[in-house]
Amino acid sequence: MSAALTEHPVAPRDRARRARRYDGRRRFTGWRCFVPRRFDVTISLVLVCHDDSVPRDDSEVLKGGAVGGATRVGRTVRRPVGPWTPAVHELLEHLRSRGLRGVPEVQGIDDDGREILTYLEGRGVPVDDEIVLDAVLEEAGQWLRDFHDAVDDFRPDGPRFWRQTGEVELEPDQIICHHDPGAYNWIIQSGHFVAMVDWDMAGPGDPLQDLAFLAWTGVPLYREIPVEGVARRLDLLCEVYGECGPFTLLDRVAERMTLASERIAAGIERGDEGLANLQKVGEPQRTRDRVAAFRERIPAIQAALG
Ligand SMILES: Nc1ncnc2c1ncn2[C@@H]1O[C@H](COP(=O)(O)OP(=O)(O)O)[C@@H](O)[C@H]1O
Ligand SMILES: [Mg+2]
Repeated sequence: MSAALTEHPVAPRDRARRARRYDGRRRFTGWRCFVPRRFDVTISLVLVCHDDSVPRDDSEVLKGGAVGGATRVGRTVRRPVGPWTPAVHELLEHLRSRGLRGVPEVQGIDDDGREILTYLEGRGVPVDDEIVLDAVLEEAGQWLRDFHDAVDDFRPDGPRFWRQTGEVELEPDQIICHHDPGAYNWIIQSGHFVAMVDWDMAGPGDPLQDLAFLAWTGVPLYREIPVEGVARRLDLLCEVYGECGPFTLLDRVAERMTLASERIAAGIERGDEGLANLQKVGEPQRTRDRVAAFRERIPAIQAALG
């Protein structure tokens, strides 16, 4: 506790509360009920080690990735790079310059040739086991809206190399999409959507492709859940994103996810190691099968939408 704190004006109720928590030597006494006095020094050291200003060199492989994976090193994340990395970094820098929240900051390339990004505090979403709250889905939809607004004036002067298309120009009717905004790439903190990670698939596209992709695991549409919930959540998502009704969105989903399976197959074919890793989880057939099952559920979802 710094001396500076005591110099600020303190409301009487706070002063009384503080007096209950600290003894005359200004030491935190809340632990006393279960920690003997001689351990006070140890407690102080633990608190110092948790200070963000202290460098950390610990590392761990992060869960939730099936393509290239990510490793946390201290307060950074290290990920494999490819010919698409310069364009992705240019995109991320543009988004940060536009003030878009929830985007990792590029910090360079490490000695092992991996990209260094800021570690965004929170947790991932295990999509097969969890359905995010309606409020989190709305926050993700709002973030997508903000992303598409922020990326609208990102118009590179000439072709760029993107992972799924190779070197192409951005067409006038396209924007740069995330192209993998599934819930497994969201970061949740204290029950709120706070960030979107994994930008390697970014490239030219049409904004509704991203919305459809987000709905696939965010609603989710790839799992069989009660249609009333699906209809309600499609409505919420379209309401917050704007410009699109739930029937239109539903129409786009099968097409977008079929494209996803085709792109995985094409990536495997051309020797993209990361996309080849998806075979371990059954891709691209897994998505093909899920799209076929989803098509059969569409009439019931439409009926629930009214
Ligand atoms: N910048 C980051 N900050 C915090 N967590 C991250 C970050 N990047 C990735 N992660 C976590 O690691 C997981 C795997 O990383 P990801 O980049 O998605 O790998 P993959 O390309 O294999 O899908 C993500 O789902 C997320 O939970
Ligand atoms: Mg990922």
